[in-house]
Amino acid sequence: MRPATGRGIVTTLGEEAVMQDEWTALEHAAAHAIAYRQETGSAETTPVADYAAMLEAFAAPLPEEGDDPVSVIEHLVEAATPGIRAMTGPRFFGWVIGNSHPTGVAADWLASAWGQNVGNVVAAPAASAVEKVAADWLLELLDLPRDSSMGFVTGATVANFVCLAAARSEVLRRAGWDVEADGMFGAPPIDVLIGADAHATVFSGLKYLGLGAKRVRTVETDAAGRMLAGDFERVLRGCAGPVIAIAQAGQINTGACDPFAEIAPLARAAGAWLHVDGAFGLWAQAAPGRKHLTAGVELADSWATDGHKWLQTPYDCGFAIVRDAEAHRRAMAISASYLPPAQDAERDPSAYVPELSRRARGFATWAMIRRLGREGIAELVERNCALATHMGETLGGDDGVALVCPVALNQFMLRFGDSDEATLAVVRQVQEDAVAFIGAALWRGQWVMRVSVSSAATHLADAEVTIAAVRSAWAKVRG
Ligand SMILES: Cc1ncc(COP(=O)(O)O)c(C=O)c1O
Repeated sequence: MRPATGRGIVTTLGEEAVMQDEWTALEHAAAHAIAYRQETGSAETTPVADYAAMLEAFAAPLPEEGDDPVSVIEHLVEAATPGIRAMTGPRFFGWVIGNSHPTGVAADWLASAWGQNVGNVVAAPAASAVEKVAADWLLELLDLPRDSSMGFVTGATVANFVCLAAARSEVLRRAGWDVEADGMFGAPPIDVLIGADAHATVFSGLKYLGLGAKRVRTVETDAAGRMLAGDFERVLRGCAGPVIAIAQAGQINTGACDPFAEIAPLARAAGAWLHVDGAFGLWAQAAPGRKHLTAGVELADSWATDGHKWLQTPYDCGFAIVRDAEAHRRAMAISASYLPPAQDAERDPSAYVPELSRRARGFATWAMIRRLGREGIAELVERNCALATHMGETLGGDDGVALVCPVALNQFMLRFGDSDEATLAVVRQVQEDAVAFIGAALWRGQWVMRVSVSSAATHLADAEVTIAAVRSAWAKVRG
């Protein structure tokens, strides 16, 4: 049922009939979406049609004429469904995916339906204001300096890029160089320090910024991928000019966090900018029982994190957080005469992100924080970590199975029969059995089964069913 707005749309009778079909299409989409979520909430993961099958399902000549909206949506659902992976299901442990929580999805539907372009305060007052409120809540939840600035971006990849752009701007400004005006040609060289087990997307940021993915000084890490503070100090001592140091909260395979309390004062004393890639691990800050893992992270200068991982917002949603709001704005702000500037205390949403036009991600962010609350977020992080520990330690105790590193957060790795071949065969078997989804990764040159527990839908019963599924797969591989 379409809620009345009282505004009415002036149409001819024919147009009204057409519009009725558009409303019906919205209703169909909502019904399909709800049915899908109810199924993935309880059913097992089904084998998923591959890319080639999906191309075949969608392939068609360019339509010359428009189709009616209900047929378009029905065709989309029919064609796409076999290739939809149950990422929102309770036993999805691939990559680091979160859950696209139904409340976040509902808020995101409204963001689409309202069609707000959050490029400007005047253009989109509600979308702009909700970002400001959600940003303040996020700083409190993550316990970061409360006057930090925040950009609402697509995810941690772009958040890393934005934070590193602010870092580049500030360290070069201090060296007497205006990079926004004069670019990188002739600029004082910047030393970039990075841990040996940093995430691939940080190097993307370095590439986009002309800092070079290979022109980095690598800091040694321990067995779980944490930077060694002593080596950080040694590498830092070898730097002469402006320095950007990149640490991480939550190594993609192990969940380990860098020793911020040790490295942040060293960076500060050397005048270096310390950035933290905390795509998922920064959320340890929101869980009192896990906060010790990120101790000292608040001493950094910038932080990248995701909403679409541990906050469970739908894709896409990430946050670029910068202590020095001025540096953040210098690197990102856009101005033109046709764009009304933010006045007085107003926060210009486009001043903190690379895009002018973009999705109103603040609505889903606000909705998820309201839906879970501080306690619900803490419970979720705690539960996911406890389940990861339970699964990792239980399976790691089985004959022929090794837990590669102690479980530090919500990610863990297993190796089977101390063999790449056996490990990959178990991963394939688990995916084929389709009780749970788990992927593989290379760690220290060896293949491992890599498990990420990051969904609000996952509970103890799911962990037990998954343990049984992995055991059964391992038994089949062993023969
Ligand atoms: C540590 C880390 N950094 C960056 C990213 C990239 O995040 P996104 O895919 O949201 O852009 C990820 C993704 O898993 C990650 O785990």
